[in-house]
Amino acid sequence: MFLRKKSEIIGLDIGSSSIKVIQLEDEDGGYRLSKFGMRTLEPEMIVDGTIMDSVRCVETLQGLLKDQSITAKDAVISLSGHSVIIKRVSLPQMTEDELAESIKWEAEQYIPFDINDVDIDFQILNSFVDADGKPQIDVLLAAVKKDKLSEYTSLVIEAGLKPVIVDIDSFALENMYEINYGTNEKETVALINIGASITNINILQKGMFAFMRDVSIGGNKYTESIQKELGLSYEDAEKAKRGEDVEGVNTFTIDTIIENVSTEIVSEITRSFGYFKTSSGSENIDKLLLSGGSSGMKNLNTFLQEHLGIPVETVNPFKHIKIPPEFDSNFITEVMPIAAVAVGLGIRRLNDR
Ligand SMILES: Nc1ncnc2c1ncn2[C@@H]1O[C@H](COP(=O)(O)OP(=O)(O)OP(=O)(O)O)[C@@H](O)[C@H]1O
Ligand SMILES: [Mg+2]
Repeated sequence: MFLRKKSEIIGLDIGSSSIKVIQLEDEDGGYRLSKFGMRTLEPEMIVDGTIMDSVRCVETLQGLLKDQSITAKDAVISLSGHSVIIKRVSLPQMTEDELAESIKWEAEQYIPFDINDVDIDFQILNSFVDADGKPQIDVLLAAVKKDKLSEYTSLVIEAGLKPVIVDIDSFALENMYEINYGTNEKETVALINIGASITNINILQKGMFAFMRDVSIGGNKYTESIQKELGLSYEDAEKAKRGEDVEGVNTFTIDTIIENVSTEIVSEITRSFGYFKTSSGSENIDKLLLSGGSSGMKNLNTFLQEHLGIPVETVNPFKHIKIPPEFDSNFITEVMPIAAVAVGLGIRRLNDR
């Protein structure tokens, strides 16, 4: 073909602190960045994953689409946090069609919500024979609460878009990882995305799903602690946490507050690593790949490395994506960790699965 197939689908990462939009074109079997932008949300607009002010969220989203001259209408969005349940379960051998028929009943015992309140999706990971010689399948179950789903899809629809795929932040991170880092057959990698209100913890073993958990801690915790302990406004606390000068604020005090929050984050990660090791039979984690806006916290990288005892690297979600020269390279470097989820959404296509 001489004509480049133009992708008319956008990835939309609606986080609690900002909305990110991306458009990736298919090119030479890979991807080329066509659009990327973000707009900040005021802290009271989405609180802990709940849309509190949908009118202003819609305005912000429309403003962002306009800034980026986006004409595509199909959008891939994602959810995370409490309203998402991911489980890996073993079931008796059956075909994909049979499982599609029975999934609601099979999933019921694993989902802590009323089964009628959730939408369920699944993926058969592999098949095996259990200790009694019975053929089994390993299934990845994903359930999302219907009310959360409609909260986010309504927002997107009101902004004039069509939500064509609803993904999950952690799955988007896995897909971003796969296209940029490949599936290393030996390595066990932890993808950790520290956002504003949520930290997604994701472990891949030989490139395959091994563990997933969303924890309710993120960059907001630094800001809130600084606000509380020093009686600062939200704006000043945000500045202070990024190392900017705020009148009357002692950097030593800030460093201590930051270290306390980082210690909390480390203990959540350690706890998850513990669960993973118990369930998988004590497997070592070779590397931690860090993303999310809060990965920009000064010294967090080294702090995690020292306290977890594994190498920590900041993600490059554009590693294998062509970046045209019209994008400023400093801008790209700056947004790399923030764009990780968006990239994973931007590569989804209507007929993939
Ligand atoms: N340079 C920086 N240094 C420190 N913190 C930063 C920096 N840039 C952004 N942050 C923090 O990162 C967080 C936003 O990250 P991100 O965009 O990944 O979150 P989000 O997707 O909006 O939120 P969530 O996914 O938790 O709902 C905010 O708490 C913000 O203060
Ligand atoms: Mg996020």
